[in-house]
Amino acid sequence: MDGWIVPPPKEPTKTKEAFEQERREKVRWLIEEGYLRSERIVQALLTVPREEFIPTPYRDYAYLEVPLPLPGEQATISCPHSYPLFYEPLGLDEGHRLLEVGTGSGYGAAVAREIVGPTGLVVTMEIDPVTYAFAKNNLTRLGYTDVLVVLGDGGQGYPECAPYDRICVTAACREAPPPLLAQLKPGGRLVGPVIEEGIQYLTLFEKRDEGLIRQRLDAVLYVNLRGRYGTGP
Ligand SMILES: C[S@@+](CC[C@H](N)C(=O)[O-])C[C@H]1O[C@@H](n2cnc3c(N)ncnc32)[C@H](O)[C@@H]1O
Repeated sequence: MDGWIVPPPKEPTKTKEAFEQERREKVRWLIEEGYLRSERIVQALLTVPREEFIPTPYRDYAYLEVPLPLPGEQATISCPHSYPLFYEPLGLDEGHRLLEVGTGSGYGAAVAREIVGPTGLVVTMEIDPVTYAFAKNNLTRLGYTDVLVVLGDGGQGYPECAPYDRICVTAACREAPPPLLAQLKPGGRLVGPVIEEGIQYLTLFEKRDEGLIRQRLDAVLYVNLRGRYGTGP
C-alpha cells in the first residue's frame, strides 16, 4: 500500500441506492477520462456491486480511486479504474477463457465473469489462504459460483484449464512468468505490471506466430507478486 493514502476505517452508513448512484457516476467518469470504451466492460462495471467485495470498515469508500486493504498479507482491492485499465488492452470479450493471477477480493473475477459471459470461463488464483477464503465467500454470496477460485501460486498458472485466451496478472513481477506464457493460446494476450529499473509498467504481451510482442503501457503501483516468480519478500 506504499504510495497510497488509505482513508480511516469507519462504520458504513451508505445505502444500496447511494452505492448504485456512485457506481453509475464512476462508470461515467471512467468513460470521460478515457479508461473505458467497450460496451461489455461498461455493462459489467454497472452490474457488479463493488461495495460487496470490500471489508465493512472500508465499504463506504468503495468507489474512491484508492486501493483498499483486504484480509490476508499485502492484499488489496485495486482502485476502480484499474479494471478497465487492464481489461481494455486485454480486449477481454464474450466467450474468452481468462486466467486471473491475484484474486484479492474477487471483484475483478466477478467483473470478468460478466464480460466473458456463460460461454467463457474465469479461473482466478490467490496465494494467500486468508484472502482466498474472503474472495471465495464474496463470489459465492453474490452468485458467481461458476468462477473457479484456486488457492495456489498463480505464477505457475493453472494448466488444468489451459490454454487461455487472456491472462491478467494483478501483482507486480520482474518478467511475465514463463508458465503463464506457455499456457496462453496462440494469438492470446497477457497483461500485468512488470518492474523495469524500479518502476512498474503495465505491460501487454501478445503471443503471435512471429514471436512474443511486448508493449509498455502506463506506469502503475501494485503489490508485489509472491511465490516462485515473485519479486522477493
Ligand atoms: C492488487 S491485489 C488483486 C486485486 C483483485 N484483482 C481484486 O479485484 O480485488 C493482488 C493480489 O495478488 C495476490 N498474489 C500475490 N502473489 C500471488 C501469486 N503468486 N499467486 C496468486 N496470487 C498472488 C495477493 O495476495 C493479492 O491478493
